[in-house]
Amino acid sequence: MTKKRFANISRVGGTLREMIAHGRVALVNRYYDFRHGTDTAAHLYLNDFQVPEEALEHAIWYAPIGESSLRQALSALPIDSSEYQFIDIGCGKGRALLTASEFPFSTITGVEFEPGLAAIARRNIENARIRHQQCHQLQVLTEDARDYAIPHAACIFFLYTPFTGELLKQVLRNIREAALSSAQPMVIMFLDDVVPGSLAPPVREYLAQWPGWEALPAPDTRDLGHLYALDWVIFRTQQEPRK
Ligand SMILES: C[S@@+](CC[C@H](N)C(=O)[O-])C[C@H]1O[C@@H](n2cnc3c(N)ncnc32)[C@H](O)[C@@H]1O
Repeated sequence: MTKKRFANISRVGGTLREMIAHGRVALVNRYYDFRHGTDTAAHLYLNDFQVPEEALEHAIWYAPIGESSLRQALSALPIDSSEYQFIDIGCGKGRALLTASEFPFSTITGVEFEPGLAAIARRNIENARIRHQQCHQLQVLTEDARDYAIPHAACIFFLYTPFTGELLKQVLRNIREAALSSAQPMVIMFLDDVVPGSLAPPVREYLAQWPGWEALPAPDTRDLGHLYALDWVIFRTQQEPRK
């Protein structure tokens, strides 16, 4: 899958139209950082990562989520966000954490295995100028997602193609088990670009088999900060938050 994904990336950049699209994405991302006083823009490839070779088996790359896409997707959720924790599995430089802080989540946590990215995310949280910030309880854990203990609390898990394969399945299963044993409501928001080999269709198919979980409508998000359209896969458990 990783190889396929890189094949897609390396195909891009040939034509003038593609070069313009890349330039647009770079500009939109730099403009985000200019407005917020952050460093979230540059994309990173696996060979830039400071993690042991074995840990890279399922990793993909770092790229930030477009803020307006995530804002639209969170606004469309039929939940009271003040009753939920927001957890970004593979938080990179923390763009999703900052955007989520515009909502009144009880806490916001980023899990990131690459220490350099985690450090940048912490710096971004300290320095960011976020208008209408409603959650101020933000933290970043430098941890491999495979070791992350899923909280037994009402949570929204955000996964922007952090990794593939068996690791992705294992982390999704961990969420499912925590939901079962805690009887707390959980929401999974997974997304991938609409590209050949996208992970979104297999994840949708996988989650659709889980009893007690229901699919929510995918928001039709538009964002100049992405090269491709986004395919959202959103599922939640059917229980209500416990007071
Ligand atoms: C596409 S980026 C998403 C960044 C961020 N969620 C956002 O939306 O702006 C995927 C991130 O997942 C991280 N990642 C990959 N494998 C991981 C693992 N096993 N544990 C934790 N993070 C991982 C990468 O380092 C990268 O920062």
